[in-house]
Amino acid sequence: MISRRGVIASAVGVSAVAALTACTPEVTDLGNTAEPSAPTASGPVAVAKITDIPIGSGKKFDVDGTPILITQPRAGEFRGFSAVCTHAGYVMNNVANSEIKCDNHGALYSADDGSVISGPAPRALGKVEVTVDGDDILVSF
Ligand code: FES
Repeated sequence: MISRRGVIASAVGVSAVAALTACTPEVTDLGNTAEPSAPTASGPVAVAKITDIPIGSGKKFDVDGTPILITQPRAGEFRGFSAVCTHAGYVMNNVANSEIKCDNHGALYSADDGSVISGPAPRALGKVEVTVDGDDILVSF
């Protein structure tokens, strides 16, 4: 599990320190053009319904400017990751066959644990804590 700061550091490739504020987070379902910015989510935040995430696939969401991927690698098991590729920061939105593919240079990650399956990504995706409450998927970071 990584901290909120870890997600951003992974997103921009630096160990930036973000000022954290408590507020009501905004969740948006985005295309793949989102840019990472400092998060302000105070989690857990409801981002989706379990029926929104197909088995073996995933979907990207924006939580207060932080792009995250929610995946379901196996029936009833949900995972959360930073959607920002660790190679060059591309915001990913391509999840199929329990793999996350970066459409920029072709890196593949496991949709189960975020590990690198094939490069050029140098390291695993940052993890986001996911919980399920009834039909809701919540994240906190
Ligand atoms: S930015 Fe993802 S593989 Fe290069």
